[in-house]
Amino acid sequence: AAAAGSATDAAAPTNGIPPPAEGLDWATLGFQFRPTNCYIRHTYRDGAWSSTPELVTEPYIKLHIGATALHYGASCFEGLKAFRTADGRVSLFRPDENAKRMASSAARLLIPEVPADLFLSAVKTAVRENVEFVPPYGTGGSLYVRPLLFGSGPKIGLSPADEFTFLVLVTPVGDYYAGGPAPVTAVVTTDYDRAAPKGVGHVKVAGNYAADLLPNTLAKRAGYPINLYVDAADQRSVEEFGTSNFVGLRGNSYVTPNSPSVLPSVTNKTLATLAADAGMVVERRPVDISEAGTFDEVAACGTAVVITAVTRIVYKGTVIIVGEAVGADPDVVGPRFSALYKQVRGIQYGELPDVHGWCYDV
Ligand code: PLP
Ligand code: COI
Repeated sequence: AAAAGSATDAAAPTNGIPPPAEGLDWATLGFQFRPTNCYIRHTYRDGAWSSTPELVTEPYIKLHIGATALHYGASCFEGLKAFRTADGRVSLFRPDENAKRMASSAARLLIPEVPADLFLSAVKTAVRENVEFVPPYGTGGSLYVRPLLFGSGPKIGLSPADEFTFLVLVTPVGDYYAGGPAPVTAVVTTDYDRAAPKGVGHVKVAGNYAADLLPNTLAKRAGYPINLYVDAADQRSVEEFGTSNFVGLRGNSYVTPNSPSVLPSVTNKTLATLAADAGMVVERRPVDISEAGTFDEVAACGTAVVITAVTRIVYKGTVIIVGEAVGADPDVVGPRFSALYKQVRGIQYGELPDVHGWCYDV
């Protein structure tokens, strides 16, 4: 492990990488859009992606009023993060996985695939061109990277566009939920479904988030920062949270639903690997809502939310207390998700060895 340098330590190594920008309060970033230097754009026309990245300094795009993204939701996106490491590098976490997932989203929407090498070079260029917005090491922040791919050509009858846009924007972020690492109470959404088994829940398409906006907002208005979806058929099998996967730990087991309508999360896959490395048994199988209270610990996991402990789950008016059987305190993050959180963060910030080759220097 590298020696940890303080964020504001002038002697901290930089490896020639420009230091963080001044004037941003890194400790209170939260999760919101903040302006940066530029975004990166590629356009698909006449059957091919433009090979040269455009650096666009205005946070706007001139779009045809008939663009299929606007009318028919022909749009998909990704989310990943870049970190300033203990030894002064800037590193992306598993961007290869995001490239693959975006390709599967694109295929489902009849959008031409962005080749993995183009995806990776656009992501790296976006980070490099905005490197002063990567939060300082030690602040807990990161640069959120949002690749976006959509139909930008006009069609008024329903059909795929002839022109597509791939862009990568970045913005510095801190905690997704206002309480930082504190546990949250989730409410199960039963008045609305997120996805159907043969629908588009397994890909990261814009429409999934459009569908979640109302239930997500209703949950927040009712005082729950996070909502949990169950299956559309009988509303009993746990699917996932609006913006993250569901994971439960019990004894030596790491349990996560294997539903076909859940988004395959890179964070979940990462945690499952770390759990298996530690000798745990990884179970990918249906999880009935009645099982939720029997877990020792439950967490929401995803790039934006990282690992957020969920200690209470409200299902049809009944409060399920996670970990009750093992006497867990619902106001405290459980020990094992705490340890997993430290481990993942340690790898991302270059404090722990990256034995799986997950970190890509920018
Ligand atoms: N599920 C949904 C619906 C999401 O939006 C996200 C966020 O990307 C995740 C799960 C977590 O996926 P990942 O860990 O790849 O960020
Ligand atoms: C992410 O975790 O990267 C996501 O895409 C979720 C998003 C709705 C913030």
